[in-house]
Amino acid sequence: METSIACYSRGILPPSVSSQRSSSTLVSPSSFSSSSSFKRLKSSSIFGDSLRVLPKSQLKSTKAKSNGASSVTKCEIGQSLEEFLAQATPDKGLRTLLMCMGEALRTIAFKVRTASCGGTACVNSFGDEQLAVDMLADKLLFEALQYSHVCKYACSEEVPELQDMGGPVEGGFSVAFDPLDGSSIVDTNFTVGTIFGVWPGDKLTGVTGGDQVAAAMGIYGPRTTYVLAIKGFPGTHEFLLLDEGKWQHVKETTEIAEGKMFSPGNLRATFDNSEYNTLIDYYVKEKYTLRYTGGMVPDVNQIIVKEKGIFTNVTSPTAKAKLRLLFEVAPLGLLIENAGGFSSDGYKSVLDKTIVNLDDRTQVAYGSKNEIIRFEETLYGSSRLKTAPIGVTA
Ligand code: F6P
Repeated sequence: METSIACYSRGILPPSVSSQRSSSTLVSPSSFSSSSSFKRLKSSSIFGDSLRVLPKSQLKSTKAKSNGASSVTKCEIGQSLEEFLAQATPDKGLRTLLMCMGEALRTIAFKVRTASCGGTACVNSFGDEQLAVDMLADKLLFEALQYSHVCKYACSEEVPELQDMGGPVEGGFSVAFDPLDGSSIVDTNFTVGTIFGVWPGDKLTGVTGGDQVAAAMGIYGPRTTYVLAIKGFPGTHEFLLLDEGKWQHVKETTEIAEGKMFSPGNLRATFDNSEYNTLIDYYVKEKYTLRYTGGMVPDVNQIIVKEKGIFTNVTSPTAKAKLRLLFEVAPLGLLIENAGGFSSDGYKSVLDKTIVNLDDRTQVAYGSKNEIIRFEETLYGSSRLKTAPIGVTA
């Protein structure tokens, strides 16, 4: 029984990346096919009873709007990640990279789930080493990128310098990632996650978030999900990790509607940023529902899943910006904007901000259109998105 699982679900990466169970058979990334190994997984179960793959008759065909024109996308809820990617992008290199990252996310999910926490760190094993889970996630992601053979440079929040992954510049990619955002809340069992953005070629500075070809989050909570957006393909797409090790497409978001849910980060800034204080007062007065964990991944993901809401992380003279444009803010910007939402640093979309230094930091808001208009107007008096009055009654 173990053989067919090893071929696909843990076989495409070195044993250290695919370390959820032992594996001996490696299959190169170029051997991904939409038909073979995934199907063998259907009858396999690693942990006992497994979730079943939905029969085709229960699949939901979905529509999405692109550039104002309504078009039927080929993507179907219930597809495997591999099947979805084959329809979402013709770029085989990008498909390989996203599959390899999916393998790393799956292993990180297992490592987070089985980490022992004490004192200030949560640790798990990596080969013969015991490592803090954020450092372990970092290693696994670098390994996956190296193994993909399509990544030129990679850079992480833990190692904020370009690392040569050996892939080509032409037709290759550079990837920036936050390996485990919220690692300090693993012990409390809050949801944590991985964030990454993919840029074409060999540049991670002098580029904007809008230059990304894809962005994604791995989300380790009660459910493990892989949420991804591909530039030029409508929607932001959620894949659920099934017991049997497969990622199954379970949700597509193409619209963020209006709804009273707020997620206020860096709240201490309200002490000496009176405009931010006015905005928070507005949410409270208007009886918005507070949903904030202090983990940016679940706090932003809920906007995509619930299809409404606002996330803010605003700065002040004494509460400076800490969120990184490259590793967190720009990738989440693509995920939100592909989902039909909006992002802002107060003046413009975070996808329009040039990344000057790898460590650039910024304030940010993500949410529905009217929420972003309200955010910009309240903080700076006007909004580039404004077509009708939104207003904050202080
Ligand atoms: O990346 C830093 C981070 O942990 C984010 O995940 C989170 O949104 C933010 O800090 C929380 O900041 P604060 O506790 O100041 O609201």
